[in-house]
Amino acid sequence: MTALQAQTVPVPMLDVDLEFLDIVTEWDTSTPFHQWRPGIVVPATFRPAALPRVIVVANQKGGVGKTITSLELALAWVARGRRVRLIDADPQKAGLTVWLKETCYPADGPRLTLRDVFYGKATLAEATYPTIYKGLYLVPSEPDLNDVENAPPTKVLSPESLLRDSLRADEGDWDITIIDSGPNLGKLTVAALVAAQDAIIAIQDGGLEVEGTGSVLETIRSVRKRLNPQLQVRAIIFTDFKKDKLCRKIGNAMFKAFPDALIVPARESTQAGWASLAKRPMRMCAPGEKPVLDYDRAADLLVAPEQKVG
Ligand SMILES: Nc1ncnc2c1ncn2[C@@H]1O[C@H](COP(=O)(O)OP(=O)(O)OP(=O)(O)O)[C@@H](O)[C@H]1O
Ligand SMILES: [Mg+2]
Repeated sequence: MTALQAQTVPVPMLDVDLEFLDIVTEWDTSTPFHQWRPGIVVPATFRPAALPRVIVVANQKGGVGKTITSLELALAWVARGRRVRLIDADPQKAGLTVWLKETCYPADGPRLTLRDVFYGKATLAEATYPTIYKGLYLVPSEPDLNDVENAPPTKVLSPESLLRDSLRADEGDWDITIIDSGPNLGKLTVAALVAAQDAIIAIQDGGLEVEGTGSVLETIRSVRKRLNPQLQVRAIIFTDFKKDKLCRKIGNAMFKAFPDALIVPARESTQAGWASLAKRPMRMCAPGEKPVLDYDRAADLLVAPEQKVG
């Protein structure tokens, strides 16, 4: 462990003044594209959360920026001196485990995974691995995590509450836990919603976005009613955000649907695509990019900033 820790990379705080990103109470749709400044919509009722925090990033729609959001928010908090654990709850081979493959220890050799936790073969603490980013840890997953969706009750006991109970065992060790879920509302996503206090919904533009989030909202409502009354939607992160009227309209519709949540534009950037292809965090390869600044601002609003690390 000592040798590994010697290699850890401190995640840089951005020295750019983040105040430029306005805080507003709604997005106006009449100002022309070029004159309009993006801002985060902050409801009057909104307050930064107390730590420790368990956050799930969800949307049953694929490719809307759940994984990028999980990773960039995690690194923003790590840069602020928080100890953050990312849980990859997506069996697809395009999730956090692949993004952090080269940077998570041990880089080769067998690792325990989230599936082992569901199957009672490991504790969450045993399946948590350090990454080269100081303060960032990962619970990895492989495609066989899919087994959990169809496992008989004799193999996986109470899948819905298993993650919550596993998290309770070492909750004092973490400031923030972020669970990146897959593009569906199956058992794994429900387990993540049951385990979390806060839900962040990632969306991208497209006519069906608002209707699509109806299913997440419905699932969140029924989880809140039956299994986890604490759960609340804390933010909608609008990834690949463009200043056009459609995006602004969708943002305002989301605000009506989720009136207590932040609406955060994570502005469009070609660097996001490159980072995604290279499987590197945007923060590390393009630190001044607009969406990275947006994630920083969202991180400061979601959890009050405290200790700053140089
Ligand atoms: N700010 C941005 N600007 C441009 N493109 C973006 C931005 N944020 C995300 N994207 C693009 O969105 C795509 C999907 O991102 P990501 O893999 O995080 O989605 P996902 O919801 O996790 O997908 P899945 O449901 O398959 O797990 C990526 O190709 C990425 O480049
Ligand atoms: Mg993903």
